[in-house]
Amino acid sequence: MNVALLLVFMPLDVALDIGTSHSRLATAQRGILFNEPTLVAIDTNSGSVVEVGHGALDMVARTPRHVVVFRPLAQGATVDFDVTARLIAGLFDRAGISKLSRARVVMSVPSLATPIERRALRQAAIQAGAREVSLIEAPIAAAIGLGLPVQDPIGSAVALLGAGASEAAVISLGGIVTGSARRIGGNDFDLAIATLLRIRLGVVVAPSVVENLKFSLGSAKGLTRGHSEVVLARTVDRGELVEVDVDADLVNNAAHEVVSSTVRMIQECLGDTPPDLSQDVSARGLTMVGGQAQLSDFADLIATNTGVDVSVADEPDTVVIRGLQLCLEEMSSLHTLFRDAER
Ligand SMILES: Nc1ncnc2c1ncn2[C@@H]1O[C@H](COP(=O)(O)OP(=O)(O)OP(=O)(O)O)[C@@H](O)[C@H]1O
Ligand SMILES: [Mg+2]
Repeated sequence: MNVALLLVFMPLDVALDIGTSHSRLATAQRGILFNEPTLVAIDTNSGSVVEVGHGALDMVARTPRHVVVFRPLAQGATVDFDVTARLIAGLFDRAGISKLSRARVVMSVPSLATPIERRALRQAAIQAGAREVSLIEAPIAAAIGLGLPVQDPIGSAVALLGAGASEAAVISLGGIVTGSARRIGGNDFDLAIATLLRIRLGVVVAPSVVENLKFSLGSAKGLTRGHSEVVLARTVDRGELVEVDVDADLVNNAAHEVVSSTVRMIQECLGDTPPDLSQDVSARGLTMVGGQAQLSDFADLIATNTGVDVSVADEPDTVVIRGLQLCLEEMSSLHTLFRDAER
């Protein structure tokens, strides 16, 4: 058998983090091969996938009627099973992973996912061509990605703040000792900004512009007060294109619900932690991961409200996939963690 053919048939281990806003794929040997928006463009005439990821994002609001761009996840969970399976198949395809290689897949799952949501995720990967799927709780994958001593009897605290879900956990001896989670995240923040723009200024702006306002003007402690930014918008009543000056107060008012609910969630988790582990957390601090961990002053606000040192991981949005990639490398020694998530 020639080498190329051998590669196609070689069993392959693949890590997948299918998130509400971004999906990531990595292999142990080649690292992160895909990190793009969780979007799939489908030709409704033929039923075939036209694009996934960035390519599908470029098509939003620009497609002919027979091409529809789907967002198959919401609040951290699959809302469209078939499209999720097509997304995963698209990721395999883009990473050059043949269906024939019948990959063994390690996937993260939010700790708040129901048994049905876990099954849907697993089945979607199998439909996409995976031979075997192991699920791992996202906070554990994050802690592994951060290089924390998850297997030791030491409390490691992480907060995972994504687009559709947020969770906090204290991990020790390979499992979550205390955890709390909410189906709220960066998407809810964007939605709240869009709502205030409509109510207060009577305009609608593109989703990417809303997100950029959040990046440039958002502060969990409202420290951007006085700043503003001019953006292109369309008036709700007449549909005219206008320039509007958006001030930071509007963005920070929109942040209020997501920020306060995240702080309460982390307080809850730390408040439930047994004393010995609490001491570890006090000594070692809590690390924030996930895209929303980058919101300005968020770490500071959480530190003030919990009395614990809080830091933001480097490249916080890829910590989970890097943790899963490490799992592939140490699949055998970590197999008990997978069993825990198989509920
Ligand atoms: N600098 C920033 N300030 C505020 N929010 C940010 C920043 N950078 C990214 N985000 C937000 O982080 C979110 C994306 O995070 P991430 O990629 O971790 O989510 P996800 O994995 O797709 O979602 P989930 O895990 O909740 O299903 C988006 O809502 C994005 O707007
Ligand atoms: Mg995520």
